[in-house]
Amino acid sequence: EKGGYDYFMLKEIAEQPKAVADTLLGRIDGSGSLTLDEVRISPRVLREIDKVVIVACGTAFHAAMIAKYAIEHWTRLPCEVELASEFRYRDPILDAQTLVIAISQSGETMDTLMALRHAREQGSKVLAICNTNGSTIPRESDAVLYTHAGPEVAVASTKAFLTQLVACYLVALYLGQVRGTKWGDEIRAVIRDLSSIAGAVEQVLGTMEPVRELARSLAAKDTVLFLGRHVGYPVALEGALKLKELAYMHAEGFAAGELKHGPIALIEEDLPVVVVVPSPRGRSVLHDKIVSNIQEIRARGARTIVIAEEGDEAVVPYADHLIRIPVTPTLLQPLVATVPLQVFACELATARGNEVDQPRNLAKSVTVE
Ligand code: F6R
Repeated sequence: EKGGYDYFMLKEIAEQPKAVADTLLGRIDGSGSLTLDEVRISPRVLREIDKVVIVACGTAFHAAMIAKYAIEHWTRLPCEVELASEFRYRDPILDAQTLVIAISQSGETMDTLMALRHAREQGSKVLAICNTNGSTIPRESDAVLYTHAGPEVAVASTKAFLTQLVACYLVALYLGQVRGTKWGDEIRAVIRDLSSIAGAVEQVLGTMEPVRELARSLAAKDTVLFLGRHVGYPVALEGALKLKELAYMHAEGFAAGELKHGPIALIEEDLPVVVVVPSPRGRSVLHDKIVSNIQEIRARGARTIVIAEEGDEAVVPYADHLIRIPVTPTLLQPLVATVPLQVFACELATARGNEVDQPRNLAKSVTVE
């Protein structure tokens, strides 16, 4: 069943290009526009929405954080993102003009289910992004956009995460398309870029040997930190979560801009710090700021592990280890930047003798609150 791999997680990491392609399948029409009729929320209703709220847990929450950047940019709708377990306990402001999106691989996560029930009671429309046909969350939602990752067996989520991102981009671009924003040309260009993104994921997978080697060399460490900015920040959080779950190591993700507000005090000689670097093209201010963050931590002795786009030469002098990812549009970068972090965590877990597919204390779906 593991298709020749030692663990389901390795198989599922390898399946990501296909999972991404399958989730796009049939959703981009011949003219390069999105057709999401299957979600069954009419364009008229989508034009009347004045706010988006996304609820999710764990890895799905990191997908939600990334979705916020895409939705606000391409639709100009305000978008809030909240942990499902916190959501309904603070009396959130919801009404019929709020679109609530619930993201869940299993479709059975109790916290997410309770959050969506609360939203529907307030009259909001709920769209589920889910990987499991006919599960409770899509059944109780007004609409559903299925991710086509196929069954995910390993407890740590990998291919489901990438497909959740694809689904979020589709929703963001579709909302932008129906509502007609000033980003029409960019939206069409990104839809074109999405068509080749599975190939970019495949390309990353082909270059992972040095990442595995690096992971093995860090097996005796206690702590790894992860830094990112913009959409790289949730990627950093996801890298840290994978490492906690699988390697049982202390791992934390930070927004790189927060370093000087506290976390920089943690930097010491030889501490591994993974930095997700935004593209130097496009929003280059972000890129330049993170390069100076890398310089700062390296000057304090950190061992810098830098994930940067091909052709980004500015990071080279400050990277103790350099992991290259293909050039992508800024907002799509998490699809390629997350992959090395999954491989890194999986290899570290193996090197530490941990059970990769069934980490201690964890269940694949959490059906209690
Ligand atoms: C992390 C992981 C969990 C799940 C979370 C939500 O690798 O798998 O954090 O992402 O429990 O589960 P779903 O998506 O099934 O609602």
